[in-house]
Amino acid sequence: MKASEIRELLKITQQPEIISFGGGMPSPDSFPVKIIDKISRNVLKKHGPQSLQYSPTEGLKELREEIIKRVGKMGIKCNLDNIIITSGSQQALDLTAKIFLNPNDYVFLELPTYLGAIVAFNAYQPNYIPIHMDDEGMLTNELEEKLKGLNRSKTDFVYTVPTFQNPSGVTMPLERRKHLLEIAEEQDLFILEDDAYSDLRYSGKSIKSIKSMDKNNRVMYIHTFSKTLSPGFRLGYVIGDEERVRKMTIAKQGADLCTNTFVQYIAYEYLKSGSIDKQVVKIIKMYKRKRDIMLKSLEKYFPKGCEWTKPDGGMFIWATLPSNIDTRELFDDAIKEKVAFVNGSAFRVDGKGHNTMRLNFTNTDDKRIEVGIKRLGRLINKKMK
Ligand SMILES: Cc1ncc(COP(=O)(O)O)c(C=O)c1O
Repeated sequence: MKASEIRELLKITQQPEIISFGGGMPSPDSFPVKIIDKISRNVLKKHGPQSLQYSPTEGLKELREEIIKRVGKMGIKCNLDNIIITSGSQQALDLTAKIFLNPNDYVFLELPTYLGAIVAFNAYQPNYIPIHMDDEGMLTNELEEKLKGLNRSKTDFVYTVPTFQNPSGVTMPLERRKHLLEIAEEQDLFILEDDAYSDLRYSGKSIKSIKSMDKNNRVMYIHTFSKTLSPGFRLGYVIGDEERVRKMTIAKQGADLCTNTFVQYIAYEYLKSGSIDKQVVKIIKMYKRKRDIMLKSLEKYFPKGCEWTKPDGGMFIWATLPSNIDTRELFDDAIKEKVAFVNGSAFRVDGKGHNTMRLNFTNTDDKRIEVGIKRLGRLINKKMK
C-alpha cells in the first residue's frame, strides 16, 4: 500500500493562502445547507428513532426505490435486488475489488485514471493493463489488442470513467461505449462503469451510460451523491446483477454493516422532494462559469506549446506541457508562488506523463482562478526559457 499522493497533497493545498487546483472537491458554496437543515429536522420528526438505528446492509429500501426511479429516466432498468448503497462510491470500488480480484487478476484501466481507484485496487494486488486514451476516452481498439492471448480469469474487469473523466475531463462517445460492451461480450469480461460526473454537464449532448445498453449483466454501474449533494454524506451506490450485488452485500457486512442510516433518510427525502434537480441546475450554472474562466485564462496565460482538454462537464482540465518540463519540479516552484495542482503521473499506473497536470476548477473562487492560472503560466514560461 502507498499513501495517496493526492490526500497527502491536500494537506499542503488546504492552507488558505494557496490557490489550489489540486483537490477534487466541490465548491462549499454549492452545498444546500438550508434545505438539509430543514430536511434533517423533518427526518427526525417523521422517521424518529428508526433514522438513528442500524439499517439493512444493502441500503434503505425507500432510498433504493427513489434511485430506481432516477436511473430509470436514464434508461437503466433495475429492481431492488440490483442495488446496494455504499459509503461513498469509493467503498464500491473497494468492495468490487475485494470480491472479484485474486492476486494477479487483470484490471484494464485508462491511462490516466482516477487515483482513488488505483489505491483501492492496489490492496488486492491486481495485474494492471493500462489502456491509452485520446480525446474520446479509452482506446477500445488497444484494449482489444491487449486482450489477445491473455490467460485470463473470469473475474478480470475493465474499470472506466467514461463521462467527464477524473482526471482528464474527457468523455467517451456512444460508438466507443458500444464497442467496449461488444468486447466485454466477446471476451467474457465485466465492466466497472464509474459514473461520478455525468450530472455535471455544461455543454454538448448527454450520452447514454454503458449500463443503459447492457443486456447481459456485463456492467456494474457506480454513482455517487458526492458531486451533487455532499461528499461529507459519504453516499454512493452500485447497480449490477443480483448475484454480484449479493456478494458485495456480504463483503459490506464485514466492512461497516450498513451505510449511515440518518444520511440515507435525508438523501431519500431530498430525492423524493425533487430538490436534487434544482440543486443540479444551480451547480451546473456555477461550475460552467468556473470552467469557462479557467479555459479563458489558460488561453491567455499558458505559453504556446501547452495543450489542454476542453471538457463538456465534470470538475477537471488536463494540461500537457512541453516535454522538457517536469510537473513534479514545477509543483515545488508553484507552491512557493502559492498555487497548486496535481502532477499527472500520479494518475498513471505506469508512472509516466511527467509533463502533465490535473487542474480542478470547481473549488476556487472565480477571481482566484485567473490569478492562479496566471501564476502557473508565468512559471511555465520561465521553465521553457
Ligand atoms: C471517478 C471517481 N470515482 C469515485 C470517487 C469517489 O467519490 P465518493 O467516494 O465521494 O463517492 C471519485 C472522487 O473524487 C471520483 O472522482
